[in-house]
Amino acid sequence: MDVWRHGNFVRHYASRTLRPPEVILLARHAHQMQGDVLELGCGAGRVSGYLVELARSLHGIDVSELMVDHCRQAYPAGKFTVMDLRDLSNFDDESFDCVFAANSVLDVLGDQERREVLREVRRILRPDGVLAMASHNRAHIPRLRKPTDIRGARNLVRAFGKLVLMPWRLRNQRRLAPLLRTESDYALVNDDAHDFRLLHYYISNDAQRLQFEQEGFLPIECLDSQGSSVAEGAQADESAELHYAARRAPTGPQ
Ligand SMILES: C[S@@+](CC[C@H](N)C(=O)[O-])C[C@H]1O[C@@H](n2cnc3c(N)ncnc32)[C@H](O)[C@@H]1O
Repeated sequence: MDVWRHGNFVRHYASRTLRPPEVILLARHAHQMQGDVLELGCGAGRVSGYLVELARSLHGIDVSELMVDHCRQAYPAGKFTVMDLRDLSNFDDESFDCVFAANSVLDVLGDQERREVLREVRRILRPDGVLAMASHNRAHIPRLRKPTDIRGARNLVRAFGKLVLMPWRLRNQRRLAPLLRTESDYALVNDDAHDFRLLHYYISNDAQRLQFEQEGFLPIECLDSQGSSVAEGAQADESAELHYAARRAPTGPQ
């Protein structure tokens, strides 16, 4: 929370580039996207810029004031509020047609909190409403980079930067090591995002589908990073992130 609340990542996230599965989700669930939409962790509005054009109303929330200020200026047709996604109690029951949570924003939470947010999302979705979200793919964990790995650098300058930052990255990793978890249905992983300063929730395609059912959703689809459909039982381990659509089920959490 400290990293997100106090860091300045506006430039890092201010882009208009959608990922292939996001384009597919926007198109395939156009009916819900054209209604009242809530975006969780909207960041610098990468997806908000499209939602604001499609939706009857868009409300983006983010814990970072800098991100929210940027979105207010860039997309004045939307409403943007500094708010923690862990507390959605300000929103009325059945008040949104779609809740969008791009770029694995729910994965900043631990298991209990993440499930509570899913339940809250179900409460504020209208019947037939859709949750579109991405999440870190547990099957991808063996492919994650180590702090000592400079392969991901796009050019020599960046490779040098990673080399210089290596002791700090290693220190960040040591600091978070006691919080790592490996459970049957999920793992908490310290990945390379923002120089190993974050812990993220990782879950497999099948475990996420089951979790949707447990929390009162009907899973509709899972897409890999190329936008291809991921069938039940498939791992899609080359995709760091999996993208899901799930419909509000008539019956609540089991
Ligand atoms: C990985 S960025 C994604 C930004 C944007 N959704 C995108 O796809 O470009 C995660 C965003 O979630 C926000 N965030 C992190 N924890 C949050 C929380 N508890 N409540 C609301 N926003 C949060 C961060 O400030 C950041 O803007």
